Amino acid sequence: MLGIETTCDETAAAVVERAPDGTGRILSNVVRSQIAEHAPYGGVVPEIAARAHVELLDGIIATAMKDAAMSFDKLDGIAAAAGPGLIGGVIVGLTTAKAIALVHDTPLIAVNHLEAHALTPRLLGPLDFPYCLFLASGGHTQIVAVLGVGNYVRLGTTVDDAVGEAFDKVAKMLGLPYPGGPQVESLAASGDPTRFALPRPMMGRKDANFSLSGLKTAVRNEADRLAPLGAQDTLDLCASFQAAVTESIADRLDVGLTLFAERFGKPRALVAAGGVAANQAIRAALQGVASRAGTPLIVPPPALCTDNGAMIAWTGAERLALGLVDGLDSAPRARWRLDADAVVPAQFANTKAQH
Ligand code: KG4
Ligand code: ZN
Repeated sequence: MLGIETTCDETAAAVVERAPDGTGRILSNVVRSQIAEHAPYGGVVPEIAARAHVELLDGIIATAMKDAAMSFDKLDGIAAAAGPGLIGGVIVGLTTAKAIALVHDTPLIAVNHLEAHALTPRLLGPLDFPYCLFLASGGHTQIVAVLGVGNYVRLGTTVDDAVGEAFDKVAKMLGLPYPGGPQVESLAASGDPTRFALPRPMMGRKDANFSLSGLKTAVRNEADRLAPLGAQDTLDLCASFQAAVTESIADRLDVGLTLFAERFGKPRALVAAGGVAANQAIRAALQGVASRAGTPLIVPPPALCTDNGAMIAWTGAERLALGLVDGLDSAPRARWRLDADAVVPAQFANTKAQH
């Protein structure tokens, strides 16, 4: 399976093999980040991203095919992320996949990018359903019950900013370069996490939703109050912000896993994905959450946690194995809820599920 990913600021292609017993193998995985193109603007600029995908994608696919010693005629399918994401980029990837599928008379699989994050751990090793996914990137913050291929129930999401986005915005207001997450994390290591009494958003609420914008504003207020910021002020703001986000995430996931257990029984694992999962403080908190819920924590290696083609190819392979292929008229989608057409499997049907 060839997989193509162009929903945000990574142009990526990969070739993945799925054995009949469900074992996965990555034959190639090529990712070209556009961070340098977007850095001057402090965030991803959709139009720049779309143009960069157009320029880069053919070469990235050629490299992925060459690295895998694969020819188009030997592929069983072509998978592309069809959303959700920046629509210009999605159009580039999906149209390219359709053209290859048409020319080589090969099935097309139009993959939901969020489903690809959700299924990635099954590419790495055996993991049965159901399990709980915490996805936190620059564009997404979700807690999802993964019940089966194509069967997801969203247990929580952000009501405003994504977690990664909050890191990026805080970094920007402190004058740190994009992407902000790694910058904030490394400065936080030398700061005092208790100096500023920042809010812990949504703490104690019975739903599993997130909110980041109030916390972001609180950081801005402190920064404005202290301006001009000294070096220690910046370190302490980073540390205090990271501590607040981490505590909020742990609380939201404790609730999310409780909701999961009530509706679907014990999860086989808590899986973390997205760029934010690279943060060591957040990872440590996730380990605590998983331990309290009595389930293992799985965090894929960084290259498979952030956007990549292998996760799209793998999802294409999982879907193809179930006969789930898509037409050449499949539409690119800027928004695409993972559980939009979920059919809760029979063994979970007699729950008080509301979604
Ligand atoms: O999954 P990802 O690479 O790309 C998408 O957003 O699609 O996630 C990038 C996001 C950025 O917002 C970045 O600031 C954040 O993940 N991030 C981090 C860390 N590394 C990346 N956030 C907190 N701590 C980190 N170490
Ligand atoms: Zn992603």
